Amino acid sequence: MRLVLLGPPGAGKGTQAAKLAAYLGVPHISTGNFLRHNVAQGTDLGKKAKAYMDAGQLVPDDIVIAMTERRLKEPDAKKGFILDGFPRTIAQAEALSKFTKLDAAVNFFLEPEELIKRNTGRRVCPKDDTVYHIFMNPPKKAGVCDECGTPLVIRADDREDVVRKRIETYERQTAPLIKYYRDRGLLREVYASGLIEEIFHRAIEVLKESVPPRER
Ligand code: AP5
Repeated sequence: MRLVLLGPPGAGKGTQAAKLAAYLGVPHISTGNFLRHNVAQGTDLGKKAKAYMDAGQLVPDDIVIAMTERRLKEPDAKKGFILDGFPRTIAQAEALSKFTKLDAAVNFFLEPEELIKRNTGRRVCPKDDTVYHIFMNPPKKAGVCDECGTPLVIRADDREDVVRKRIETYERQTAPLIKYYRDRGLLREVYASGLIEEIFHRAIEVLKESVPPRER
């Protein structure tokens, strides 16, 4: 399946993308994770992206479109993909429609006050990108990744003032994609409050109607 995940910062896109990717046997492609790894490694791409990310703004379209197009050409994405964090503007969605055909766009929606709590309590593994929350989704051993034992870190853009900026950026530049995909008959809506496992089952349910006949 070729899926796009939509939703505000902290709605749980990354958490659900990892589960959906494992369930469907397709790669989880996160533009945010890819950019953060580039920032950490100090690549040219990372140097260009860092200031935008730290300010809660979007990285320019031409940069993210080129990097996503390259990633989708890799062999593992031929059988499908879960795109987490792309597209984020109408220009990105238009570009995506030129290089692939989607089965659905899943919108995870949640009350704004929940988003702040989720972002400010998040901890991530810098090695394998597993996502935790200090209260709502803690690792087995505090401060350490369950999967690989790496010490967890706080994302640079998870400070409350930057989170609020990211939510504003989302409302202004990304929320219009909900209508964009609804108009094209691709939108599926999932309420993103509740246990991680419950939300995953809601997502699977709404996707049943999108599974192309060849994959049923
Ligand atoms: P990105 O990394 O994509 O961040 P985001 O969209 O702001 O989304 P988040 O990763 O913050 O949240 P999420 O919805 O994935 O939630 P998560 O699963 O982690 O982008 C970062 C930056 O990169 C952007 O600001 C931009 O600068 C740049 N960028 C990326 N893509 C771009 C693009 N296409 N164009 C331009 N710029 C781009 O969950 C959040 C927390 O909640 C976690 O702690 C988790 O454990 C917890 N949680 C999850 N589910 C539940 C639950 N059900 N109950 C309780 N807690 C839960």
